[in-house]
Amino acid sequence: MIVKLTVDNCKIEKLKNSFPQILGKTDVKQEIIDNNFTNYFTYEVDGVPVAFIHYTYLYERAELIDIAVLPKYENQGIGNSLMEHMINDCQRKGVENITLEVRKDNRKAIHLYEKNGFKSVATRKNYYQGMDAWLMEKRVDKMKDVYIFAIESSCDETSCSIVKNGKEEIATVVLSQIDIHKDFGGVVPEIASRHHVKNITMVIEECLTKANMTMEEMDAIAVTYGPGLIGSLLVGVEAAKTLAYLYKKPLIPVHHISGHIYANNLKEELKFPLIALVVSGGHTELVYMKDHYCFEKIGGTLDDAVGECYDKVARIIDVPYPGGPTIDKWAQLGEETYHLPLPLNDDSYNFSFSGLKSAVINLVHNEKQRNQPIRKKDLATSFQNTVVKIISKKTMKALKDYQVKNLIIAGGVAANHGIRETLTTLCEQENITCSVPDIKYCTDNAAMIAASGYYAYRLGRVGTLDLNPKSSIVLK
Ligand code: KG4
Ligand code: ZN
Repeated sequence: MIVKLTVDNCKIEKLKNSFPQILGKTDVKQEIIDNNFTNYFTYEVDGVPVAFIHYTYLYERAELIDIAVLPKYENQGIGNSLMEHMINDCQRKGVENITLEVRKDNRKAIHLYEKNGFKSVATRKNYYQGMDAWLMEKRVDKMKDVYIFAIESSCDETSCSIVKNGKEEIATVVLSQIDIHKDFGGVVPEIASRHHVKNITMVIEECLTKANMTMEEMDAIAVTYGPGLIGSLLVGVEAAKTLAYLYKKPLIPVHHISGHIYANNLKEELKFPLIALVVSGGHTELVYMKDHYCFEKIGGTLDDAVGECYDKVARIIDVPYPGGPTIDKWAQLGEETYHLPLPLNDDSYNFSFSGLKSAVINLVHNEKQRNQPIRKKDLATSFQNTVVKIISKKTMKALKDYQVKNLIIAGGVAANHGIRETLTTLCEQENITCSVPDIKYCTDNAAMIAASGYYAYRLGRVGTLDLNPKSSIVLK
């Protein structure tokens, strides 16, 4: 896997230790701070850097400064992957021409450069203390359109989508199992995976038909590999691996939460640095992003996710699963007449919702004992206002502390009127842009996985055919 190095990325130290003879002369950390156009990427095997590439670019020109592979890892195509990565990156940045200097007797390096389309255009006399160098050059083709075919099956939606260049949706099919699970008051994992198996082929075919495209026209196959229900994830991952193998396409593993974040890219390109508030049935997280695919989780729920809390509160007052949307609708019709405590009202970026759920249970119980009817709409308003207060307080604090001017809200609960409206207003007051995906991209869908998969593809984050889904994984 190829990983970008940034100033606050502890991998810089690892890199320095691995390549002391090459990097002893430069202070990598200093260079990265001083120059935004300097790029370091390492190639990692099991989390350890075994190769790196260093290049700079300024507008239409780029220069390859260093590329090195540890001797033990030579002849495995790693140097080539890093070269391809640099060329793709330059292409994306609009670079027209890449140059480099190489010792005339360094056959191995010259072979690698020629293989990647570099040609020698001039000689630099005595460039390496007595040894001549070749100046080599490569013209970079204008970027072609990239089509990603994506599969999402982490919970109870079987979905496929084709997205062009990470932002233009060509076709999406979402087959929801909500009506099947409704009777059980929540998603039943075993039933969900069986329905994914039944539906996946049909959804793949329908998506291609809708787009009027063929699998051959796709550049890569992206798939959600976690977190989620393991049986459900397995179906999507196996389908994606089969397609990648059959059609000889790169397989791109995508983290479900990164998909929710990149759903915003389908509306407007992400602007960095940003804070993402991810609120869904399974997650409540605050993520800081300095650039594409640089995820830093700064806080999250210590117990229930916010959507889960909505659904549980809904159940207490006999609203069918998933109750979030109904509570949201009622919240706009009632009044805040019940008092509920603000949960985990501290200075951290963490959340806790199980106490709030218990407070609602106790309140309903007490009212019943006193033979008082529950004013459901007022309870919905009181509950929603409490949730919105704590979420907006912590989100605004994160924006202020990290000095970030872009907020994106993501996940199923991003559809919530209270959260959307309050944060939009607060951001307006602070001159912060607040972006929320279109409602259809808030709940689980494959378009968001394709959008995220596009950037993973451009960054060379390609998976292998032994990819396994994981029910819980860190976003990175
Ligand atoms: O992102 P999502 O489709 O699935 C997960 O990845 O978890 O989110 C589903 C969750 C459910 O808990 C649902 O009740 C909640 O999002 N939800 C809402 C609203 N619309 C959906 N919660 C509050 N207000 C809404 N308008
Ligand atoms: Zn989700």
